[in-house]
Amino acid sequence: MKRPELVVATAVGPAVLDRLAAHADVVDVSALPRERWRDALATADGLLVGSSVPVDAPLLAGAPALRIVATVSVGYDNIEVGELARRGIALTNTRGSLNAAVADLTYGLVLIGLRRLGQGIDWVRSGRWMQEGAPYGHDLAGATLGIVGFGAIGLDVARRAHLSGMRVLYHNRRRRDDDTVTGAAYRSFDELLAQADALVVLVPLGPATRGLFDDAAFAKMKPGALFVNAARGAICDTAALLRALESGRLGGAALDVTDPEPLPPDHPLLRREDVVVVPHVGSATVETRTRMALLAADNLIAFLRGEPLLTPVAP
Ligand code: DGY
Repeated sequence: MKRPELVVATAVGPAVLDRLAAHADVVDVSALPRERWRDALATADGLLVGSSVPVDAPLLAGAPALRIVATVSVGYDNIEVGELARRGIALTNTRGSLNAAVADLTYGLVLIGLRRLGQGIDWVRSGRWMQEGAPYGHDLAGATLGIVGFGAIGLDVARRAHLSGMRVLYHNRRRRDDDTVTGAAYRSFDELLAQADALVVLVPLGPATRGLFDDAAFAKMKPGALFVNAARGAICDTAALLRALESGRLGGAALDVTDPEPLPPDHPLLRREDVVVVPHVGSATVETRTRMALLAADNLIAFLRGEPLLTPVAP
C-alpha cells in the first residue's frame, strides 16, 4: 500500500520529522523557496505550516490530494479556511500549547512599555548612562491594564499583572460570568479604551477585528496610554498608530506583531523612542515551539490513523 505523503513547510526539529517519518513519507521544503514546493505538494496528503506561510488559493490549487493542514500556531488567518471547508480538508492548530509563553511575552511588553525600558536600553547603548535625564517610566502598581480578548492567554496575562498590583479590566466578545474568579472586570470596548493605562490586544484576526484599532479607536484611548499588540499586526492600522504616537495621544507602543510583518528597517515606527518592536516571538521559546510542533505532528498522525484530531479547527 502506498505510504501517505506529508509536506513540512515550516522549520521544525529532527524529533518532529522523525515522528512523522514513522507514519508517512516526509518531504521537508521549509528551507526551499515557495516556487520549489510544487512537486512535493502535487501528491501531498498532509501539510505542516506555520503562521507565516500563506496557505492560499494558488498553493491549494497545486495540492489536489491534500486532506489535512496542521499549523504550528494558534492563529490561522494565513489559511484560506473557506477553500479548505469547500474541499473537505481538515485543519488543526496548536491552541493550549503556548499560553504561558505568550502571556509572559505580553506581560513583558506591558512592563517594558510602562517602565520605558526600551528608552533605557537605548540610553545605555548610546553611551549616555552617566548623563542626567535617563527616562522615568510609570508604576505598574495602581495602573489599569485593559485586555481586549479575554481567553486563556488574557487570563494568564491578568494573573501576572495582578502580582504587580495592576487593576485589570477586559473586553471580550462574550462577557464572562466569572469576574470575581478572574479578578478582572468587564467593560464595553469604549469604556476599556477610555480607562486603560496600558491596553493589550489579544483577539484573533478576522473580518470583525481587521483594522479594529484605527484613528477613531486611538482617539478614544486614555491620553498617554500604552498600546500593546501581541495578536496580529493587521488588527491595528499602522498609519493610525503612528498618527496617535506623533500627536502625543498615545504614550507609547510595544508590539510583538506589525503590519506589514516584518517592518522594513527604515519604517518610521522603528525610529521612535517610544516604540518597542520584537519580531513576533510570543511563542518563540525552545520548549513552547517544540511542544507546538509535536502537537501539530500528532494531529497529522491522528488523521492518518483515522483517530480523532487533538486540536481541530471547526470548519
Ligand atoms: C500563534 O500561535 O498564532 C502565534 O502568533 C505564533 O505564530
